[in-house]
Amino acid sequence: MSDASALTLVAVDRVPRPTLLALRVAPEQLGFVGRVVDLLADAQSRPSADPLAFVLGDQVIGLCCIEREPRTIAPIAFDAPAVGLRGFFIDARWQRRGLGRRALSALLHALPERHPAARLLVLSVDEGNTAALGLYRQAGFVDGAARYHGGPVGRGQRLLLRPFHP
Ligand SMILES: CC(C)(COP(=O)(O)OP(=O)(O)OC[C@H]1O[C@@H](n2cnc3c(N)ncnc32)[C@H](O)[C@@H]1OP(=O)(O)O)[C@@H](O)C(=O)NCCC(=O)NCCS
Repeated sequence: MSDASALTLVAVDRVPRPTLLALRVAPEQLGFVGRVVDLLADAQSRPSADPLAFVLGDQVIGLCCIEREPRTIAPIAFDAPAVGLRGFFIDARWQRRGLGRRALSALLHALPERHPAARLLVLSVDEGNTAALGLYRQAGFVDGAARYHGGPVGRGQRLLLRPFHP
């Protein structure tokens, strides 16, 4: 039996598709990550994508995608070997219980084993996404050099960086 309090990462191809498709964010958050069906199609279309589900006990509570090609996150040169993070979310029914923080921590813990050459996690976040910015700052992300336009909702995006070590 699974430990009901354990939060683990599981490759999405090990999760039944209807379970993945039942995940959702609040309507006002859709501009930040998009629909799950599109996230999955996008991940499937890029060999550099490593899509993962967050599982709490036996409940799938969120998703994210590690991107082995960080230049698809921001077209700049990074100071260290980097991987990207996109599509990170916690299902609306599970938000505001500390699970986003735990999911990000589990992800950072798993990165050295999944992507041993990487030393930096990079992501792009909408400047108006207060919840995500708060979470990322708590998790040790710092501002990258770039600020640019062209995110999914057409507003300014911020590049955030999180160094990590094996
Ligand atoms: C961002 C997100 C993952 C946070 O998940 P969560 O499980 O609700 O977060 P937690 O409960 O672990 O909260 C961790 C921190 O996030 C911030 N936060 C989370 N929800 C917040 C909200 N509604 N308003 C302001 N800050 C918020 C806070 O800093 C919080 O710390 P605190 O509890 O000490 O104040 C979730 O809101 C989400 O999935 N949003 C939609 C998708 C998205 O925007 N993804 C990021 C794309 S870059």
